[in-house]
Formats: sequence, structure tokens, C-alpha cells
Amino acid sequence: MASKKRVGILISGRGSNMMSLIAAARAADYPAEIACVVSNRPEAEGLFKAAGAGLPTRSIDHKLSADREAFEAELDATLRSFGVDLVACAGFMRLMTAGFVERWRDRMLNIHPSLLPAFKGLDTHARAIAAGVKLTGCTVHIVRSEVDSGPILAQAAVPVLDGDTPESLGARVLDAEHRLYPHALSLFVSGAIRIAGERALYPQARINQGKPLFWPPIE
Ligand code: GRF
Repeated sequence: MASKKRVGILISGRGSNMMSLIAAARAADYPAEIACVVSNRPEAEGLFKAAGAGLPTRSIDHKLSADREAFEAELDATLRSFGVDLVACAGFMRLMTAGFVERWRDRMLNIHPSLLPAFKGLDTHARAIAAGVKLTGCTVHIVRSEVDSGPILAQAAVPVLDGDTPESLGARVLDAEHRLYPHALSLFVSGAIRIAGERALYPQARINQGKPLFWPPIE
């Protein structure tokens, strides 16, 4: 196998998506390895989980940085010091400047808990329930400077059930996130996806033969 791409994971909190990437990357045939985990919050639970999994961790407290540029310069230098090829944001709650995003253009991924471009921003599950959609889900996309935008690499659709609360729906979506992110990252680093402007294309399209996904299902 070609040499593995080195991934730096950015977190701010719990780190459950980070752990799903770490677990996937343990497989010998996974095309990426986790080089480091960086948090902008020193108390992030995910930092302790990553250290427990034997990974190098760094915390760069944005509150101690002079400004956004200084924070990002330190973040950039840290990622480069670990030989990172690709950045995976996983619950990283910091807005990034256009300059930082450009430095990692087409090399920075994010996971968002909705079917983008619907429900950008926060409180996605409460808003999906209020809107009455029958399917919501999660999206892995390339990061662009506008929040929650950029070429969509992969999505998982998750049904919204009548009695759902934001918590119950969030848990169902999170399960899907944990499967989608390692899958999308693997496809991306193995070259199955080509970025053409603002679209991600699958030149060897082999996805579901284009069949629609129904909810409720048609038996
Ligand atoms: C996830 O729902 C992710 O989609 C969003 O923030 C949450 C992070 O959760 N960006 P975790 O830290 O990965 O557990």
C-alpha cells in the first residue's frame, strides 16, 4: 500500500468522532494514520481519550492567544511539526480565517450533524424536528471559509421519528457520524474522490446505483 496519509484531528470537546477515526485508523489496511490531536480547549474530554489511546496531543488555548491569527499560526506550526497531510475537524468549535482555510485548501475536512446545506450552524436537531423533515443526517465536507460550506464528500440520512427530542435524534445521528467519518476519510485519502470546484465527484461511481432512499420505507 502507498504510504499512509498523516491526519491531524482538531477537537474542542467530547471527541467521539475523533475516537471513531482513531479506531478505524488502527486497521492495518486503513489508508490514513492519526498523527496528532489538537484542541483549542485544554479541558476537552477528547484530549484525555486521545492520550489514553496513545496519540500525541496538544492544547492550544485560544483564550491565551493574542488574536485569531496568532492562534492559527501556532495551530499551523503544530500541525506541520507532526508532518500532517490532512486536517480532520471533529467537533472543533473555532471559526477559522480565510487565510488558514486557504493554507489547507482541499486538505481540511469537517463533519456536521445535518444534511447540508440544510441546517448549517448550531442546534441542528432541534431545528430539524421543528421543520418537520422526515430525514436528517450528517455530512462530511471539505472546509471552505464560509461556515459549514464546501464540497460535500459523503452524507448519511437518518430518519426523524415522531417522538424524537433533540437528544434522541442527536444520538441516532451521532451513531451515523461515527460510521460516516472514517468511511469518507478513507475514500478521500485513497483517491476515490476528485474535487472539482465546489463539488466532490466519484469517478468510479459505485454508490447504490443511484437508487432513492425512502423514509418511511417502501416495503
Ligand atoms: C458532532 O455532532 C459533530 O458533527 C459536530 O460536533 C459534534 C462533536 O461531537 N461538529 P464529538 O466531539 O465528536 O463527540
